[in-house]
Amino acid sequence: MNRARRGILLAAAAAVWAASGPETAPEQPIPYSHRQHVALGLKCSDCHTMPDPGELMTFPATAKCMSCHASVKTGSPAIEKLASFHRDKRPVPWVRVYQIPSYVFFSHQAHLEAGGACEGCHGPVGERDKLWKERDISMGACMDCHRARKASLDCNYCHEPRQ
Ligand code: HEC
Ligand code: HEC
Ligand code: HEC
Ligand code: HEC
Ligand code: HEC
Repeated sequence: MNRARRGILLAAAAAVWAASGPETAPEQPIPYSHRQHVALGLKCSDCHTMPDPGELMTFPATAKCMSCHASVKTGSPAIEKLASFHRDKRPVPWVRVYQIPSYVFFSHQAHLEAGGACEGCHGPVGERDKLWKERDISMGACMDCHRARKASLDCNYCHEPRQ
């Protein structure tokens, strides 16, 4: 087999691995660590608020970070980058870790009211320096919990706006 051909086959094998292999943490624009910040006593809800109607958890504004970092670690290159986003009034372009397609209906509020915990769907975030998709949020995973908790399995429950 010539070299170029072998290269193509290896590339194809790598692509298959990437599609089926373990989830890895994406490179974030700023190396923010949940472990480091949760250890300071910050609560999830200090940064992830759930505005009406309660579907999204949202990401904190740079002002939230700067409430400390205007004076903490100002010499760090990562904090200088954070401060420049803040100065330019640009949100940090965080790379999404957990995301479902827009045709699926999902509400954080409904699940928290039903007794769901952040860790159940996102893992022990407060122990992590970097986040990756360590918990499954595929349709199968939604269905498994709905079956166990006797919530609806109707297609329209998750795929159509309900009356
Ligand atoms: C000081 C603010 C802050 C606190 C406190 C915080 N987070 Fe975060 N969270 C962030 C930032 C910034 C990101 C984006 C960077 C990243 O993904 O690591 C993020 C990302 C996430 C994500 C990934 C979202 C996605 O789909 O991309 C989850 C899940 C999450 N946080 C859950 C939690 C939980 C659970 C707690 C409490 C244990 C918590 N966070 C506490 C700031 C915070
Ligand atoms: C029943 C499972 C479940 C629970 C419980 C849950 N999440 Fe999520 N979370 C998801 C799913 C699914 C998404 C992707 C939503 C999307 O793409 O619209 C998500 C997305 C996020 C995001 C990205 C922004 C957004 O809202 O899309 C953050 C941040 C987040 N979750 C934080 C939390 C925190 C903090 C808690 C606990 C207070 C929590 N989640 C509880 C399933 C869950
Ligand atoms: C309650 C105060 C507080 C808030 C709010 C806060 N941080 Fe921090 N942050 C700290 C402290 C304290 C450290 C650790 C400094 C040390 O001991 O080295 C730190 C460390 C960091 C570091 C590591 C810097 C380095 O070079 O070592 C980054 C990056 C960071 N924070 C980003 C963020 C981002 C992004 C946000 C907003 C989502 C945020 N922080 C919100 C207090 C805070
Ligand atoms: C931890 C278990 C669990 C997981 C995981 C889970 N659900 Fe649920 N879900 C529930 C329970 C319990 C209810 C509430 C049922 C009720 O109130 O009758 C619910 C309710 C819902 C509702 C109705 C919300 C409303 O407004 O009344 C939708 C839609 C839904 N889930 C979609 C999803 C999707 C999409 C996923 C996967 C991304 C998912 N769920 C994952 C347990 C779960
Ligand atoms: C509990 C919520 C829930 C229920 C109930 C549900 N789905 Fe889904 N469905 C999802 C989620 C979440 C995804 C997106 C999965 C992903 O992107 O990984 C999805 C994706 C899909 C897709 C696209 C799959 C693909 O590979 O592109 C189809 C088709 C689908 N669902 C059909 C159905 C049918 C048919 C039913 C009824 C038998 C059903 N769903 C019931 C949550 C649900």
